[in-house]
Parts: sequence; C-alpha cells; structure tokens
Amino acid sequence: GRKLKVALLGCGSVGSEVARMMTTHAEDLAARIGAPVELVGVAVRRAGRPRPGIPEELLTTDATALVKRGDLDIVIELIGGIEPARTLITTAFEHGASVVTGNKALLAEDGPGLYAAAAQHGADLYYEAAVAGAIPLVRPLRESLAGDRVERVLGIVNGTTNFILDKMDTSGAGYADALDEATALGYAEADPTADVEGFDAAAKAAILAGLAFHTRVGLDDVHREGITEVTAADLASAQRMGCTVKLLAICERSADGASVTARVHPAMIPLSHPLASVRGAYNAVFVKAAAAGQLMFYGAGAGGAPTASAVLGDLVAVARHRLGESNGPGESAYARLRVAPMGDV
Ligand code: HSE
Repeated sequence: GRKLKVALLGCGSVGSEVARMMTTHAEDLAARIGAPVELVGVAVRRAGRPRPGIPEELLTTDATALVKRGDLDIVIELIGGIEPARTLITTAFEHGASVVTGNKALLAEDGPGLYAAAAQHGADLYYEAAVAGAIPLVRPLRESLAGDRVERVLGIVNGTTNFILDKMDTSGAGYADALDEATALGYAEADPTADVEGFDAAAKAAILAGLAFHTRVGLDDVHREGITEVTAADLASAQRMGCTVKLLAICERSADGASVTARVHPAMIPLSHPLASVRGAYNAVFVKAAAAGQLMFYGAGAGGAPTASAVLGDLVAVARHRLGESNGPGESAYARLRVAPMGDV
C-alpha cells in the first residue's frame, strides 16, 4: 500500500518531540490515517549534534534540497521566523507537498500569501501548533464555529510571559530569574524578545482575529505592549487590590460589525476571574460567539510535547485529506478495545 513521506524542518524542542512521537506512535498514526507515515528527512541548522532517537542518515543541513525531493507528501516546518521558512514552505507546495507549520510569525506576516500559494498547488496548510500550543483553537475557529458569528476572542496566548508573571506573583522572583527558568524549560522562543515584548502574542492575536472574523489582520494592525515594564511592585499593588497581572490578547468585532480590533497588553485581572488561576506556561482563551455563547479553551500553551501534539494532529488531518478520506468523526480504530464499566475521571 501507499506510504506517506514526511520531512521535518527544524529539530528544536518541538521538532525533536515530533520526530520521537512519529516513531513511538507509528502504529497508532498509521491506524488513524489509514496508511503508514515515514519520516524521510530532518533538516537541522547544525550537524554533528547528538539527536537521540533520530537515525543519523535522516539528518541534513540542506533544507532546500530536502523540500525539493519531489516525492514528499507532507513537510512539517518548525524552523520559525520569516526566512528561510517562507521560501521553504512555498518550495514544498511547488514540489507537491502539503505543509504543517507552527510558524506564527510567518502566518501573522503573510497568512493570505501562504494560503494562496497552497491553493495554487492544491496543497493543504495546517497550523494548529502556531497558536496556544496543545490547545485546539485554529480548528474550532476555522471549522466548528464556521457557522456562527464570533464576537470576541480574549485570553492568555503566551506561555513564557504567563510563566514569568506567575513566578513573580507567587514567589516574588525577579524578572530575569523567571525568564531564565522559562528559557530552560523550553517555553521561550529562541529570541525571548518575541515573548516578553509581546510580538509572539501579537502574532497569535493577528492569526486568531483573522480566523475569528474572516478578515485579514496583520501584525501591524495589532496594538502591542509587552511585560518588560511590569515590576515586582506592580504585582504587589495588584495583589493588594485582589488582582493579578496577565498579558492578554483581545480581538473584538465592533458592535456594528463593521470593524475589528486586536490588541496585546498587560492587564489587571481580579483573582475571582478564571484567567487569574491560569498558572505556569498554561494558556486560556475565551471565545464568544453569537449563538454558541462563551467558550473556554484551556491547556498547555507552550513546550515541546504539548506543541508536538498539535503538530501530530495536523499531520493526521493532512494525511487523511491526502488519501482522500473523510476526516470527520467516525468509528475509531480503538473500537476493538473493551469498554470498562467505570473509568477514572
Ligand atoms: N514562546 C511561545 C510561548 C511558545 O511562550 O507561548 C508557544 O508559541
């Protein structure tokens, strides 16, 4: 039968976890997709480093040659940033592959350009991992709520800054120590400026606003303030008022429906509000839609394994589509499992 060939670009905290899960979950993935997926190449920035679990012969520093192979079904782009990621993705489309990416900066900068490039070649572009790590948000906005009218998307979409603010709030730690810890845990971007200055959250806000309101929202359209000016004294005075400080992304449709706004800034949150209890690198997003009402999405917004989960979900969706299968709800491959009388909750 057919085997789907997959190339991975980038092997950092998310990419290495994706490679690991593709190996350890190979059987489950094949069952869910209906065909095996084979990792045929992994593009890395620097050669010669140990990459546990990744066969040496799959590694290459030539990402361009990898996406030009011509026999790839799916390219997973986890390099991040604008270039060379953009050129690699469009080259992948030109050579017949679909793309799964976690690249929020690129999507915020030129999402519509990427969709157009994908459409031109009949390829798919999936990016659940680009916003809020493990939390399903892209697909709910793009699919589940497509028949409703979204009015507002509001929440915490950057794990690093939430980790830092939480650490400062609960332990009185200084900003720099909290940032070092977030970096060590793999939450922060390679350049943490993107996190602490709010660029990462602003990119996610642009993507979410575009999806929620079916319009084009660029990074420049998002008002942005980061957390670098937030001090221990700010957190102490927030505490005295029964509040904490969170970095929020807020995307809204105006009451008349004629315009949308997107902004990112630190905000005082009353301790009684559910967002106040979002700890560590967790994210939480409220979506308000006319018919659905208020929905809350909560979970791990950063980190290798949670973000890899979103990537693998997209891999399954793209692979199914590639094989021409329905990717709607259906009988699970696990239907053969015994149903126990009572499970743990
Ligand atoms: N640096 C990002 C964050 C990773 O901290 O949320 C997930 O996009």
